[in-house]
Amino acid sequence: MSPPHADSPFLAACRAEPHHRTPVWFMRQAGRSLPEYRAVRGTGSILDAIADADLAAEITLQPVRRYGVDAAILYSDIVVPAHAVGFGVEVHPGIGPVVDRPFENTADLQRLRPLEPEEDTPHVLETVRRVVADGSVPLIGFAGAPFTVASYLIEGKPSRTYGRTKALMLGDPELWHALLDRLVDMALVSLRSQVANGASAIQLFDSWAGALSPQIYERYVLPFSRRIFEGLADLDVPRIHFGVGTGEILPLMASAGADVIGVDWRVPLDEARRRLGPNAVLQGNLDPAVCLGPAEVVQAEVADVLRRNGGHPGHVFNLGHGVLPETDPAILERVVEQVHAHPNGS
Ligand code: CP3
Repeated sequence: MSPPHADSPFLAACRAEPHHRTPVWFMRQAGRSLPEYRAVRGTGSILDAIADADLAAEITLQPVRRYGVDAAILYSDIVVPAHAVGFGVEVHPGIGPVVDRPFENTADLQRLRPLEPEEDTPHVLETVRRVVADGSVPLIGFAGAPFTVASYLIEGKPSRTYGRTKALMLGDPELWHALLDRLVDMALVSLRSQVANGASAIQLFDSWAGALSPQIYERYVLPFSRRIFEGLADLDVPRIHFGVGTGEILPLMASAGADVIGVDWRVPLDEARRRLGPNAVLQGNLDPAVCLGPAEVVQAEVADVLRRNGGHPGHVFNLGHGVLPETDPAILERVVEQVHAHPNGS
């Protein structure tokens, strides 16, 4: 019997194998831009929606049905593990993760006990199994990278400067190390449990790593993210590594060991391969805001992304970051059609 999704264009591209079509999925494809999402989502916390496996599996599959994308991404959030071990984090609509008592000192480490996915997040694993049972496309599991999750726990809310995070990192490297050790373990066991339950690939979101200089990233963040990729190496699933505004640290991020590097829209794909080497497998990178423009402009920009990939078989088409809530789904439907008409690796 052939393995599940043996002919998946998404899995082929992650391995830089040619395929008759270029695969595409969208970060934040499940969400507020879809009327069917708003119809089922309800008004409670997103963490409650995530805890309802029926609902979460349905939301995960909505964009697959609507857009015909080549992968599903689990409907969950990067703060779910920290929430599940009782750290005290909520997700406020329109704001993002908010923490009552932000992480400050050594005593706060006690609030981050080890995650036991089967006990602490059984609903997440149930969602994974349901989506996998649907079987239409590979499921991407994910976790927040230690730096990005730490930034929420320390800042207490989304931040522009990451001032408190950097102050702790530079002012108390020992505590930073201890905190990131815990977040490495948390991401690792969470990702491994998602794969054990059937996820076909994983993505590590270090969304805000672009806030760091290369030397700070290399010293205080890279070793921890690297441990996550090393800790998944035996699993034989593609590992994707993504952050926003990461042009200057792309080579360092790539050295963490992922199979696929996510690139935001600021660095054209041809330039990304100049920085990473000609064999780099890339994911990206249409500017999500372009999708708010006229259809002809979207079409031209999609064509430009494909052209800059230069026929490389290692390309997963995506946006450079998440779908903006005001995006017209019809535009994304056309993006998928256009990308699918393009063979991967010619
Ligand atoms: O479709 C998908 O991409 C899968 C689901 C997903 C969500 N969050 C659902 C969600 C994924 C992969 C995430 C990851 C996540 N969460 C990241 C990394 C990705 C990125 O955008 O860089 C980050 C930084 C978070 C933290 C977070 N959660 C933010 C910044 C927000 C936005 C707040 C808002 O309302 O705009 C959230 C909330 C959130 N997570 C929503 C969704 C669909 C929107 C709110 C809702 O529907 O209640």
